[in-house]
Amino acid sequence: MVSLLITREKALELLKKWPQTEPDFNHYLESEAIMRGVAERLGEEIDYWGILGLLHDVDWALTKNNVVEHLTKAPKILKEAGFDKNFIEIVVSHGYGYDELPHLKDKKRTKKIEFALAASETLTGLIHAYALMRGKKISDMEVKGLKKKFKDKAFAAGCDREIIKEAENLMPLDEFFDIGIRALKSIKEEIGLN
Ligand SMILES: [Fe+2]
Repeated sequence: MVSLLITREKALELLKKWPQTEPDFNHYLESEAIMRGVAERLGEEIDYWGILGLLHDVDWALTKNNVVEHLTKAPKILKEAGFDKNFIEIVVSHGYGYDELPHLKDKKRTKKIEFALAASETLTGLIHAYALMRGKKISDMEVKGLKKKFKDKAFAAGCDREIIKEAENLMPLDEFFDIGIRALKSIKEEIGLN
């Protein structure tokens, strides 16, 4: 059992230390919800995986105007908030392989929890964009429709399909999509969908 030194309330407070846009905040909540669903499916620590999703972009508000700095400030922020090296490394691992992040570009994810975080936070964008296309409606969204959007590379082109596919290290992609859709449905009011 991995213990957390921080509650969800404290994690939310940490994020609210900086001005956050609504889309960014939605993304944090969505990443949390999908990570919780994936953890449940894999029999992992649900709260721990959830907080990882919630805080994975903890320095985004500070670095979004200079993206090369993304994830360079997160380690210090998280350390000061009481997180250990392991948690911090997992957060940083979601930036591995990005050309925009020279300090992480050549690193590769190897652990289950790393694949889960990167794939989950990327899937949020695809599902949210699909819901917006459907007039913000998610309550009747199905895996079949999401799969079509996944295959249509021009749709939500910023959502890297290869990163979403890292979920195949954990479960079949259809199942991951189902978890993702159900996760966002469960928080639809909080993220402005219906
Ligand atoms: Fe993210």
